[in-house]
Amino acid sequence: MIPQRLEHQVTDKGFVPIYATGVVEQPWGDYGTTDHAVWSRLYARQREVLRGRACDQFLAAMAALRMDEARIPRFSDLNLHLERATGWRLVAVEGLLPEVDFFGHLAAREFPVTWWIRTPEQMDYLAEPDLFHDLFGHVPLLMDPVFADYMCAYGRGGLKAMGLGEDALAQLARLYWYTVEFGLIRGSEGLRIYGSGILSSAGESRYAVESDAPNRIGFDRDRIMRTRYRIDSYQRGYFVIDSFEQLFEATRPDFTPIYAKLANLPPWAAGEIAPGDDVITRGTGEGWSDTPDA
Ligand code: PHE
Ligand code: FE
Repeated sequence: MIPQRLEHQVTDKGFVPIYATGVVEQPWGDYGTTDHAVWSRLYARQREVLRGRACDQFLAAMAALRMDEARIPRFSDLNLHLERATGWRLVAVEGLLPEVDFFGHLAAREFPVTWWIRTPEQMDYLAEPDLFHDLFGHVPLLMDPVFADYMCAYGRGGLKAMGLGEDALAQLARLYWYTVEFGLIRGSEGLRIYGSGILSSAGESRYAVESDAPNRIGFDRDRIMRTRYRIDSYQRGYFVIDSFEQLFEATRPDFTPIYAKLANLPPWAAGEIAPGDDVITRGTGEGWSDTPDA
């Protein structure tokens, strides 16, 4: 599907055509030397950090996608691999989308990727997702058939939750946070990363796998949907799946009655251990600030 071109916008990065639902054309020719250099440095750094820390599916997908290490990839090149593997395609966007558009894209197996990349001063942290987070962090796992189906089901579930109110949307957002963004997976070689927010951060990649500070708890859908999270620091707790199949199966049932049940229960704080938790590692809490959870 080619989105309908609506109008153009002049930004400080140049001239960008705007399509329906925030979709633009990736302005590849407008990336400068600095943009490509930032990509290249971040890519090389994560390639080293993620060896032995990212899950096998991610590392295999990186090899299969053959992203250009020297220059920012063209989404159209990656789409050839993605469409063949799982039917997903990338669409370029200016930034975070309204919920309905975000869910709608996922339901249509389109992943929105921010077209601009951070500046050299923002190598370690920026407040909103950029191309590196979206592309490097999220896109490789879309090559995995089970994970690809989970993302699409999540989009459809999001569209449904929009008709059920704010409580349902908040619970669903927590599930996304603790799986797609900050999920860990355990296999024969121990704990590995599959969450994009970790995969795109050198500091959190080490912290999530090796630090004594955070809790690591076995995946539990309803527990996660009741759990607040941190948006201004590394996570205080991670939830650990055994496989993408487990994640997909646990989220297959109709959430409507689950949302209603959980809405009557108080949420857990980000760093809390709850009764019944399958505690893999109990965190020391070192370095936790006293700012409130999101
Ligand atoms: N099964 C969920 C529902 O009925 C949808 C969903 C799928 C949510 C996958 C999250 C992840 O709402
Ligand atoms: Fe993200």
